[in-house]
Amino acid sequence: MAKSFDFSTFSDVEARQEFERLTAVIRSANLAYYQNDAPTIADSDYDQLRLKLQALEQAFPALTSEASVTQQVGAPAAEDFQKIVHAEPMLSLANAFSIEDVRDFDHSLKRYLGLDRQASLSYTAEPKIDGLSLSLRYENGDLIHAATRGDGAVGENVTQNALTIADIPHRVVDAPSILEVRGEVYIAHSDFEQMNAQQIDGGLKPYANPRNAAAGSLRQLDPSITAQRPLRFFAYAWGELSQPLADTQMASLDRLSNLGFVTNPLTRLCESIEDIAQNYSDIEKNRASLGYDIDGVVYKVDLLDYQKRLGLRSTTPRWAIAHKLPAEKAWTVLETIDIQVGRTGALSPVARLRPVTVGGVVVSNATLHNEDYIRGLDSNGDAIRDGRDIRIGDHVQIYRAGDVIPKIADVDVSKRGESALEYAFPYTCPECGSPAIRSPGDAVRRCTGGLICPAQGVERLKHFVSRKAFDIEGLGAKQIEMFFHDDALFIKEPADIFTLRERDSQNLAKLKNRDGWGERSATNLFDAIDDKRRIGFARLLFGLGIRHVGEAAATLIAHHYGTWENLSDAMSAIGENHGQEWEDLLSIDGVGEVMAQSLAEAFASENERGAIDRLVAHLNVEKAEKPQRSDSPVAGKTLVFTGSLEKMTRAEAKARAEQLGAKVAGSVSSKTDLLVAGPGAGSKAKKAADLGVEIIDEDGWLTMIEGL
Ligand code: IVH
Repeated sequence: MAKSFDFSTFSDVEARQEFERLTAVIRSANLAYYQNDAPTIADSDYDQLRLKLQALEQAFPALTSEASVTQQVGAPAAEDFQKIVHAEPMLSLANAFSIEDVRDFDHSLKRYLGLDRQASLSYTAEPKIDGLSLSLRYENGDLIHAATRGDGAVGENVTQNALTIADIPHRVVDAPSILEVRGEVYIAHSDFEQMNAQQIDGGLKPYANPRNAAAGSLRQLDPSITAQRPLRFFAYAWGELSQPLADTQMASLDRLSNLGFVTNPLTRLCESIEDIAQNYSDIEKNRASLGYDIDGVVYKVDLLDYQKRLGLRSTTPRWAIAHKLPAEKAWTVLETIDIQVGRTGALSPVARLRPVTVGGVVVSNATLHNEDYIRGLDSNGDAIRDGRDIRIGDHVQIYRAGDVIPKIADVDVSKRGESALEYAFPYTCPECGSPAIRSPGDAVRRCTGGLICPAQGVERLKHFVSRKAFDIEGLGAKQIEMFFHDDALFIKEPADIFTLRERDSQNLAKLKNRDGWGERSATNLFDAIDDKRRIGFARLLFGLGIRHVGEAAATLIAHHYGTWENLSDAMSAIGENHGQEWEDLLSIDGVGEVMAQSLAEAFASENERGAIDRLVAHLNVEKAEKPQRSDSPVAGKTLVFTGSLEKMTRAEAKARAEQLGAKVAGSVSSKTDLLVAGPGAGSKAKKAADLGVEIIDEDGWLTMIEGL
């Protein structure tokens, strides 16, 4: 029920002050709700604020005007970011954590390219700037748009904001007619300190680190705010080009620099792993005095012809790697250890710490991995930290690397007090009481409660609604927790999400009357759920949260089966025998025994299968169509490579075939269309001949794909 408001004791001045306060609060709530998709206050509180402002305007009519927030609904859509589809995807980078990883990277590239291990392969080494990436598109010399990375395929249009950054040219001369320049927007340390001092002076919350400050500043709806922020830009890559910039990465960077972009002055050309190691240690030494945050060194194959041959994986280029710099560290006290139970039943120990600042961020929780880690053992039972265990009350060293969960690196036993307590890892699930067991070879102890364990249930649902799965607007982890424990409008399994609107309409305890909900947000949620009744095959499969079936695997499986019915039928067949369908599942390149077993088990379990079928009954599952080139002779065909190839490596041949729209399988079956057999081909060639599959040799293959 709406309260009545009494302003009879207010003077005109007090009324204006209250008017301004309420207007500001409502404006900021509007922004959070409509533009950031992140409401800051409950709907019911929002409604109360609006009512109060209306009542105030009635009591003091001089305050009202058409511009008042009481006269507006929501926030103008024009202020929302528009979306930009990137002409070329904006990729991320694979990581190397040691020089050995870099050496492996170098060897694998040489293997892929068919080069000798001892041959020299040149790389550029560029500092990895810790900011956010931005793509700038120039057409006939003019900057026509600027987009954030977004999900890599679609970014946000931040053109007006980018135009306020001094390092970004508005026009380039003598450039390719289509030129997409990519680089990093960042804030220098000195500017960051000043900016935070201003935030504090203005009574605002300081930013946690320069990266967050840069992201917050670029993603402003009002470009005049971005213009006041000290943003800078380093160019380091490109997207679509009507003409190449140069033949090498280094020369391309030089060209970008000549065109008026700022490139990083610490970029070096390295001819060997020794050069790379030397450069890395130089950069590490200078890290603190650079004046901006870096979190690694990026190595890119210098020769662009090689970059092209090496090509891209789904989210990262094969020709580059980020060599991460060590994380920053700090010491504090371990106050206690809690156990969290995850989606697959894993019991994960979480350290609760006396708060400490690490690399500019306050940390009070950290992961302790598993019970062996606490005991001072690695997964093979060998000692880590010289066998020092970690006890409650100990002084522990915390480290943070990027945005990941902080970890505990070490313990100082010399400071261990009398009261330090050895930790007894639980053998039963703290959430449901079921036995928690460790399978041989598994580092993790898991709750055996399955669907009866509320922690697993709720975590699975959180995964189900997460961004890469069903991505239901307004239904995040917080709301899942609420619904999971709601007796009247419960969500206990995914299917319950899709009956929510109907149950709400039949229920007296309506959602709109819950704390934090209102008419508007309840309707929005039901609509957002309806939007996801039509869903992609891979998203659905990934959303089920089956152990070992990650996003990439779900996509591979979806592409292989094409329709949900095909998968479902195949799983039913596997349940009865492990024959042809099992072989077919294993023939998917990227699906191994462990994953296949886990998938088959999920579908064979009566409980799980029941939950899946109940869910799918509410859905319209889209067919999974692999983006295919139809203009190649192998498009849509299933290929197998066997024997040794001499002119290209196996990995290269496979990547090429996939690029041309073919599916590459690991074994020959009746579904195989073509076998490419090199010298030494054995049983696969025989099987293919028996099945009447077309067989060609490497030269035949090269002729087939020539010029494509
Ligand atoms: S190249 C096609 N070079 O790191 C390769 N990225 O972890 C795309 N980054 O999304 C990236 N400095 O935001 C590249 N010198 C550099 C970089 C750099 C920072 C960022 C970039 C990227 C992220 C990947």
